[in-house]
Amino acid sequence: MLRLQAPLPGTYLEASHDELSTRIAAAKATLGERLFILGHHYQRDEVMRWADARGDSFRLSVLAKDRPQADYIVFCGVHFMAEAADILTGEHQQVILPDLNAGCSMADMADIDAVEDAWEQLAEVTDIERVVPITYMNSAADLKSFVGSHGGAVCTSTNARAVLDWALRREDGPRAAQVLFFPDQHLGRNTGHQMGFTEADMAVWNPRRDLGGLDDATVKESTFLLWKGHCSVHQRFTPQHVAAFRDEHPGGIVVAHPECSHEVCELADQVGSTDFIIRAVEQAPVGSVIGVGTEIHLVQRLDDETPDKTVVSLDPLVCPCSTMFRIDAPHLAWILEGLVDGKVRNRITVDDETAHWARVALERMLEIT
Ligand code: 13P
Ligand code: SF4
Repeated sequence: MLRLQAPLPGTYLEASHDELSTRIAAAKATLGERLFILGHHYQRDEVMRWADARGDSFRLSVLAKDRPQADYIVFCGVHFMAEAADILTGEHQQVILPDLNAGCSMADMADIDAVEDAWEQLAEVTDIERVVPITYMNSAADLKSFVGSHGGAVCTSTNARAVLDWALRREDGPRAAQVLFFPDQHLGRNTGHQMGFTEADMAVWNPRRDLGGLDDATVKESTFLLWKGHCSVHQRFTPQHVAAFRDEHPGGIVVAHPECSHEVCELADQVGSTDFIIRAVEQAPVGSVIGVGTEIHLVQRLDDETPDKTVVSLDPLVCPCSTMFRIDAPHLAWILEGLVDGKVRNRITVDDETAHWARVALERMLEIT
């Protein structure tokens, strides 16, 4: 998705780290309670140190909603997170993304045209009344709206199992025979396995091919139609990384995010969301060595903040999320100084109709979990 961030004025690009810190602190003090800075776990330290709250994508949106005195929500994360915050927060609250180019390559792998096209094709082959669309939180607002208006729900990596259970085993409405899950095939597959399904129950829907590249029988018979999307950060982790970690640290603990491939998740000791990973490190015995399969900024922060344990990335080659990485101290300073001058830059808004159905899908998720 093309979003254009104009280059920052030279005064921000050329400012030293200390100067930027002084300017951010001054702007933050001036704005006081009107400002609420959210920092996703994958943000770099130079940004995270200014965050009023840290968290995963969904938790941060809820925190913003529960902070009505904050007129400006500066979301240090990526575009779909800022959209979710705009959907959940009050009319008077303005959500700001410090760099408009901070998208999510996985979220961009499913767009509304491709999903509507898939839905129409599915309707020609299978009983569409019994297909429930489920979208991962990492998706654009119009996809959340699509699932809301088609009887589906949003899920996060924490509650994907509960949401998929609801879809396939629900007692409060028509039980789905099939789920169309987008955009991350890995979260869908890993959760399906956790629920006791096998590869035979799943098929990958390739949006670039007619009928997802599948034949009619496969489309009709698969319980899970998994969108061919992935996270470029998490798909880097391989079974070889897990084996190398275990060779080097016998007795070490492996924790992976469910956006990693099923082969990696099968070899991990524990699998869960960013919040789950943080808790897993907290709960590990003192002296543990923990190999983590997720974004490097979270891994490094966990290592820094847990001196009695060693936390390392499963991938010895650093793998940052390049879009999260776009948010930096110069962009934060530019946004905050703009607010002090009465200029709201990079506001993210979702139109009322889209927000309405997206909220339905998010509220359904909350009711389920
Ligand atoms: P969380 O939902 O755990 O914040 O993860 C978001 C994400 O982008 C993971 O890659
Ligand atoms: Fe998107 Fe992956 Fe980055 Fe998460 S880590 S924001 S899923 S590209």
